[in-house]
Amino acid sequence: MCGIVGYIGTGAVADILLNGLKNLEYRGYDSAGLALNDNDKISVYKAEGKLFNLTNIINNKEISKETYKGIGHIRWATHGKPTINNAHPHISNDEKLVLVHNGIIENYQELKEKLEKEGFIFHSSTDTETAVHLIDKEYKICNNLEQAVLKAVKQLKGAFAFCIMHQDEPNKIIAVRNHAPLILGLGDNGNFIASDIPAIIGVAKDVIYLDDKEIAVVEDKNLTIKDFDGIIKIKQKEPLNIEEESISKRGYEHFMLKEISEQPDIIRKLLSINMPDFNQPITFGSCDIYNLIKGIEKIEIIACGTSLHASKVAKSMIERLARIPVEVTPASEYIYKTNLTNEKTLSIGISQSGETADTITAVRQAKEAGAKILTITNRPNSNIVRYSDAIIPLHAGIEVSVAATKSYTAQVMVLSLFAISLAEIKDKITKDYALKLKEELKSLPTKMEEVLNNNTEYKNIASSYLDTKNFIYMARGINLATAYEGALKLKEISYINASGYAAGELKHGPIALLDENMPVLAILVPNTSTYSKVLSNCEEAHARHAPIIAVTSKDAELPTNIFKHIIRLPEISEVLSPILYALPMQMLAYYIASLLGREVDQPRNLAKSVTVE
Ligand code: AGP
Repeated sequence: MCGIVGYIGTGAVADILLNGLKNLEYRGYDSAGLALNDNDKISVYKAEGKLFNLTNIINNKEISKETYKGIGHIRWATHGKPTINNAHPHISNDEKLVLVHNGIIENYQELKEKLEKEGFIFHSSTDTETAVHLIDKEYKICNNLEQAVLKAVKQLKGAFAFCIMHQDEPNKIIAVRNHAPLILGLGDNGNFIASDIPAIIGVAKDVIYLDDKEIAVVEDKNLTIKDFDGIIKIKQKEPLNIEEESISKRGYEHFMLKEISEQPDIIRKLLSINMPDFNQPITFGSCDIYNLIKGIEKIEIIACGTSLHASKVAKSMIERLARIPVEVTPASEYIYKTNLTNEKTLSIGISQSGETADTITAVRQAKEAGAKILTITNRPNSNIVRYSDAIIPLHAGIEVSVAATKSYTAQVMVLSLFAISLAEIKDKITKDYALKLKEELKSLPTKMEEVLNNNTEYKNIASSYLDTKNFIYMARGINLATAYEGALKLKEISYINASGYAAGELKHGPIALLDENMPVLAILVPNTSTYSKVLSNCEEAHARHAPIIAVTSKDAELPTNIFKHIIRLPEISEVLSPILYALPMQMLAYYIASLLGREVDQPRNLAKSVTVE
């Protein structure tokens, strides 16, 4: 996934574009570039690596105050290594037309071969450069940028969001959206184009969300939106009422720690939105759950990464409480396997960003197979929502850090409410038990705050594992997903090789790995059918000299001699425990990675949302 920006107006264009890219760095950070129309001459500036490399280049340039239009790009490399040549913007051979791109052009090879035969010279190994030369070819025929773009986009297949400028048409930027997010920001001193909201917070007053197969001709005082057939589209602008605070660290060293700390209040917000009154049915905004599950015989949940782990928790909850069969499949597997999805299936797509290509493709396939589609996402204006019959928003606020934290517990919270609501509708749980669960949910925020207040404890424990190269996370039952999530958090920000295992599976092979250099984190929820079994697995691990961290509750009686560290949490029912038990996983990963000096918010090779399959 990449980030693109454009600006045309009377402001300091280079600073505006660089600030926009800074707020999009979570989308990718292996190279960056700007193209500025400087006194009717297009100048392109690029740098490999982090954005500050480009900022340094720009700051050392004399950019005239007459420069009032520009486009920018920050890259997560898909086609072509993160080199200067492959960095965007890409420019036409006559150096008059420049373009930045987010997405993947699927038919770029065949187009590139044709264009090369027609004499166009390529300087990069990107799919994007094909688009530049194709538009330039059309421009040389019709001598009109808008028409050239409309002709060219009809020849492209795949996902593409563009910002395009031409030196001979200095008063406009053309924006194009097709299966990759793109928004327009309207400000007092100009207009903005961006991949996502954070780029325009603090500078734009209103926002317009472009839809697929639309272009926008953006001028400093005006903008026109058309579909790919050139028909004018009337779009509503919405007030941009997101505070700059939402994309500031607010004094925390990293966004990840800030976002971890926001979780109790997000759970409070979800409770007040979806369950303001115990004695009233749980509601989900515009999603009519009664209608949604009418005639449904099976639920399937499709997701990736952390969202997949939330899906696994949901499976345990829904099957245990509502007795409805649930199948959980990684989106990248769902796309290629035989699925038994039909009109009696409720397919739930879970995606924080709503832009994950695998999940969008899988959800689209489920819809084509006749399923009802429910989307659970933190971005109600994202691509995935287009394929949904119903949506449940996470209300978690913008999540900047690449590692998902607050969106995960928000997903599990929404899914807990969903499971309880299904159980009540299907009359599978007693009113008393439903009330007990709801009371426990209400107590969660305070319990979460108690857990998060133990920063020092987590930091001290983390400092014991800075030299470890591997880690095993083990659990049984509903918290197996918590173990998977804990392992993912650790590996994606610290680069330590961590794996989640069903504790009962250890003796079937992984136990061969255990020695004094293989720490094991064990999740033990007391008063459950699996507690004593996990304890036995800890004894087995101890017998192989593995250092063990226990994550358990305050009232758990443990043989303290076999554990190197014991993290004790407030008591909670097992079925609701994943939200609380996720917190030590997040904190441990955070402190190990930050003590190791890792780029916690922007880990190597990663991006916040993977918009390519
Ligand atoms: C989680 O920390 C990772 N950032 C990653 O696994 C992420 O959960 C996954 O890419 C899915 O993203 P989505 O929820 O936006 O679809």
